[in-house]
Amino acid sequence: MTASHVPLIERYRDRLPFAPGDPLVTLQEGSTPLLRAPVLSEMVGAEVRLKLEGANPTGSFKDRVMTCAVSAAVREGAKAVICASTGNTAASSAAYAARAGITCAVIVPDGKIAAGKMAQTLMHGARVIALAGNFDRALVLVRELTETHPIALVNSVNEFRIEGQKTAAFELLEDMEGDIDALYIPVGNAGNVTSYWRGFTEMGASPRLYGFQAEGAAPLVLGHPVEHPETVASAIRIGNPARWEDAMTAMTQSRGSIRSLSDTEILAAYRLIASGEGMFCEPASAASVAGLLKYGTDGAERVVCVLTGRGLKDPETALENNDGVTIHCEADMGALEEAVLG
Ligand code: F0G
Repeated sequence: MTASHVPLIERYRDRLPFAPGDPLVTLQEGSTPLLRAPVLSEMVGAEVRLKLEGANPTGSFKDRVMTCAVSAAVREGAKAVICASTGNTAASSAAYAARAGITCAVIVPDGKIAAGKMAQTLMHGARVIALAGNFDRALVLVRELTETHPIALVNSVNEFRIEGQKTAAFELLEDMEGDIDALYIPVGNAGNVTSYWRGFTEMGASPRLYGFQAEGAAPLVLGHPVEHPETVASAIRIGNPARWEDAMTAMTQSRGSIRSLSDTEILAAYRLIASGEGMFCEPASAASVAGLLKYGTDGAERVVCVLTGRGLKDPETALENNDGVTIHCEADMGALEEAVLG
């Protein structure tokens, strides 16, 4: 088998808290592509690559968490899993629970998650609780709920469950033969940036980590929680990240930074990645590239932007923000010629 056909836990079992006989819930996640980005490279004067986490089975990096979280839950005898989510964790936990034959409930901000994520979660048969509150409130409530009920919490608030995400750093180091100067990454609940730093440090690497939040949801940049976070990038519409301290440590230790971007900047990068590089990611993912374009490389020569989720997750935002054109056309040749060539 090539690396891309090996389940994540098997590929990195020596660095993950799983023993050979443990139950394995997998959809063949991980081993995602690292794509050269010639247009971005030219624009910033560095070698830019995109880590395509949207190539995971449910279309986001969350599958790295869920293979670990759901496998561990099954090992512990859990019959149900639950999470709070801005959408991707919901879709991923629903898929892995379906695979494991256990039930899944997700708590999401009512009307605030992208259509593709909602469709996935429902297709996998999960119970969707649409909360009259935001993600931060959902996370507080679900943590409390799982203290008194025997349901496994699969959010990345648990030390052990964050382990799966660190494997993306291992893959990067392997693909770039250790030669990576800087990583650009969107930050929401701050589990992902924390995990990358853990993965890099475990391997003795220390690229600079540059994290990016949306201006309307930038608690780590402001230094205080944001009560009503707002941004077009719904995946990172989070005002009080669970991994606050860890994320700040990652940024400080790596001599990186955490900075903010306007929705306009995020959407401009979102369109550019799709129309310039041919890669369709979701809006939150584009924050990594928007950050690179706005703040530059600070002398780094080999940089990676993490594209955390696939564009099809959020068709509404794509239909409202794109560089394409739709021409309505009568069904005759004259009209068609005019439409195609005019
Ligand atoms: N990008 C995407 C596409 C995400 O779905 C998330 C988080 C992030 C970036 C930020 O990662 O939270 O580890 O800092 N999504 C979570 C969810 C919150 O519920 O799916 P983070």
